[in-house]
Order: sequence, then C-alpha cells, then structure tokens
Amino acid sequence: MNTRADQLPSQSLSQPTVATAPGKVILFGEHAVVYSRPAIAVPVTDVKATATISPGEPGSGVWILAADLPAPDGEPGGHRYRLRDAPADDPLRASVELALDAFRHGEPAGDILVTITSTIPIARGMGSGAAVATAVVRAIGRHFGHDPQPDEISPLVYEVEKLHHGTPSGIDNTVVAYARPVFFVRGRGITRLSVGAPLNLVIGDTGVVSSTRQVVGDVRRRWSAEAERYEGLFDEIGALARLAKSAIERGGPKAVGRLMDENHELLMTLGVSSPELDKLVETARMTGALGAKMSGAGWGGNMLALVEAGRTPTVADALQAAGAVSTIFSQIS
Ligand code: MEV
Repeated sequence: MNTRADQLPSQSLSQPTVATAPGKVILFGEHAVVYSRPAIAVPVTDVKATATISPGEPGSGVWILAADLPAPDGEPGGHRYRLRDAPADDPLRASVELALDAFRHGEPAGDILVTITSTIPIARGMGSGAAVATAVVRAIGRHFGHDPQPDEISPLVYEVEKLHHGTPSGIDNTVVAYARPVFFVRGRGITRLSVGAPLNLVIGDTGVVSSTRQVVGDVRRRWSAEAERYEGLFDEIGALARLAKSAIERGGPKAVGRLMDENHELLMTLGVSSPELDKLVETARMTGALGAKMSGAGWGGNMLALVEAGRTPTVADALQAAGAVSTIFSQIS
C-alpha cells in the first residue's frame, strides 16, 4: 500500500475507531447489469451501517459483535464471536480478514472488538451487506493508520458480495463505497453521474425478505433456456438506463419518472416483481408519483416512487395504507 496524504497515525487501542457507509437503491437497470448492460444506483444516506473498532480483552484476539443480530442462545446484546471460530465464508469474518490483509502491513491484528450496527433493512435490496462490509473495511483501515479510498474499498467489498450473492455485478459495492450516484457498467469502472435537479424518492418496503442469490439464479436459469428473449429484455432495460442518465443530468424528473414506469414493466416481464411490489408501485402512481418501480433483486424488498417535492408525505401515507411496512424519504442531489 502506498503512503498517501491521508495516511493517519496508527490508532491507539484505547481510542475506538468508527466508520460508516450508506445504503443504496438501484434507480435503473437491476438484473440487466449482471449481463453487462448499464445501470444507475444512488446512495441512501438516511440509513447507514456503522463499524467500531475498540480494544478487546488482553490476549483475546479479534472478536466480532454483530450488535443487531440475535445471539444463538437468544441472550440480548447481539451475536458475539471470535473471528477464527467463524466459518470461512462468514461475510463479517471475510470483511475483517480482507481488510486486515490489505491494511495492517504486517502489524499484529492485536486484541480488538469489531462492533457492527446497521439501520439498513436486511435482504430488501438496499445494499445492507455491502454497507456493512464497507464500514468494516474503512474502520479497520483507519485503525491501522490509513484512511482507505473508495477505489481501495470497493474491490474488497466485491469479494464479500460474492459470498452473499454468488455472481454480483459489482454495482452495490461501487455505489456504497463511493457514496455517490453512479452510472455503472460491469467491468468498466464507474462514470460519475451529476444530478441536474434533486430527485425526491419515497422508498416503500414490502416487508418481504428476498434472497438476491435466488432471484439472480432464477433469472440465469431462464436466460440459459431462452437466451435470445432475455438478451432482448436486457437490451431494452439498458437502453432505458442510458436515457435515464441524460434525463437525470438535465434535471427532467417527469422523464425520469416515465422511464421508471417503463423499467418496472420490463422487470415484471422478467419475472422478478411480486404482487406486493406491483401493488405499491400502482398505489404510488395513483397518488401522483411521477413514476415508480421495484428496486433491487425483486420478489420482495423495496420499491421506489419519484415524487414532486411536497408530495412525499401523501405518497408515503398511501404506501403504508397499501401494506408497506415502512417508508424512507431520500433526496438525491
Ligand atoms: C442487486 O442489488 C442488483 C442485481 O442487479 C444483482 C447485481 O447487480 O449483482 C439484482
């Protein structure tokens, strides 16, 4: 690792080191992005994952405390375990080990406790896994005296994403590590996306937990059986993402909303929406949203409504009345 201007003195063990990372939503292009079409994702800073490195018991080694997860014995206080006792594919263990390998420069890991908390709903398409891994990698880097940059964090988090999702496109680790809107094409790095006029989003949670790995795997099976049909759908979705990039950059929310509607129709055809998602999308449109779509892998999780400033409470109330278990407002600028 090169010395950078942001090189920090190694943190004293008595001083906790804290780092955070935001959630994310995909505005355009989920699934098609796995097949190298462009997609647009934005950070959601209203929710976040936090990692804290604090001193552990002398001689204890590295411990992890997933403070929001239940302990296996049901005791309150979170799930606490020793790093080396966790399975090798435990995403928290992997995040800590990847960061230690990258940033400790041969120093002993020491006796540390890595505490993770998060306000990002889990398994709802909001990038909770990527955000937790980003916060952990950032905190460990800082603990060892180096404030890692997004281009250092993102590839490490991608490795962790593979444990969660199998064949991720890389969009989640990218948007979360860079914490800014991105126009993303797999394998090509990121293009910065400037937002011409703020986008007011209401994010509605169906409350249905869904596994990205399963939905992505199902799409892959259907693509293998009918490649031509699915390639055509991915092309159409990719074309919408390109149009959306221009509309977002020139500040045309009405056009962005129409494109979201079209993207949702294509995701329905792709077979990744669900009755709960469709109901919330329809409700948002009936309540005056400029456009609405599901977001993320689908079969559950969240939908997005693009709303004119001032109408967010009306749309959020309608979504809750239609079954959303929670709503989040986020302004993207
Ligand atoms: C998941 O947030 C988005 C998907 O396109 C999967 C991926 O890009 O890896 C469904």
